[in-house]
Amino acid sequence: MQQTHKTLGEFIIENQSAFKYTSGELSRLINSIRLAAKVVNHEVNKAGLVDILGAAGDTNIQGEDQQKLDVYANKLFIQTLTNRNIVCGIASEEEDSFISINSQDEQHQNKYIVLIDPLDGSSNIDVNVSVGTIFSVYRRVTPLGTAVTLEDFLQKGSQQVAAGYVIYGTSTMLVYTTGCGVNGFTLNPAIGSFYLSHPNMQFPETGKIYSVNEGNYIHFPQGIKNYIKYCQMEEGDRPYTSRYIGSLVSDFHRNMIKGGIYLYPKSSKAGSGKLRLLYECNPMAFLAEQANGKASDGFTRILDIEPTELHQRVPFICGSRKMVEKAEEFMLKYS
Ligand code: AHG
Ligand code: MN
Ligand code: MN
Ligand code: MN
Repeated sequence: MQQTHKTLGEFIIENQSAFKYTSGELSRLINSIRLAAKVVNHEVNKAGLVDILGAAGDTNIQGEDQQKLDVYANKLFIQTLTNRNIVCGIASEEEDSFISINSQDEQHQNKYIVLIDPLDGSSNIDVNVSVGTIFSVYRRVTPLGTAVTLEDFLQKGSQQVAAGYVIYGTSTMLVYTTGCGVNGFTLNPAIGSFYLSHPNMQFPETGKIYSVNEGNYIHFPQGIKNYIKYCQMEEGDRPYTSRYIGSLVSDFHRNMIKGGIYLYPKSSKAGSGKLRLLYECNPMAFLAEQANGKASDGFTRILDIEPTELHQRVPFICGSRKMVEKAEEFMLKYS
């Protein structure tokens, strides 16, 4: 790992002119996410000490039991982005519908919308396993000066201007792209600053790790079943190693560093899989492609899928390019 002493703040300023849009709004937006991430990090770290573990007692629109930290992180990211008057709209995994933001002085003058998964892998909090935050940024498509509409949120992933995640792990990292590669920053908790620790992150072309919830094997399409058997076969560099944390952010992060493939296929129980296109798959797919990886639903590039609803789910296969291509071959042949 290359060591530099550059902070995220310095990196943002240095690279501002390289962004497609140079008004500084996108830089301010990344800065706000950085701030919210630090606060959530603080809360996640002391979760075992204060009354913030466990279920919040509500169910979200996805039909999942909300954890207290789901609710906390959701509120915090929305508040930070709203108070700083940076975006014109937010959609979140934890909210039923999108939120339109209008500042008092300027009527709907911000051009970016954000979609977030405030806490990814939240079922892992109580057992002290890494969780994350995922975010995705688009330029609005409706005219400035008007309230945002659903159309602004239902854009194809290829339209993203930025995407990233925070991983609250053994150390806390913020990893993001604005379409010019992927860079990773590690938080120094003593100082409260993120430092550029992983410049220009790249998926190895191929790898030896496959990550899938094999408990669902019986419900998977034949193509996925056969691909899993292929991963386990003794031949060449196989069998591969099986690693599954159950936090997309953590599984993705490990596979990007070590080389591997992540699969959340559709099943006979969940016809579209589990992961959400707008909050999870699109941002991870953008990061994957920017890091020389690949993301697909088995047949189609994730970033080319036309969204039809806010909380849409899609099958997700993502990781080292050659491994994803091999899984797609199996899908085409057997499914
Ligand atoms: P979230 O906690 O944001 O609802 O996301 C959970 C997702 C993802 O993080 C993870 O990879 C996947 O659900 C795990 O699902 P299974 O428990 O079905 O394997
Ligand atoms: Mn959830
Ligand atoms: Mn998630
Ligand atoms: Mn979540």
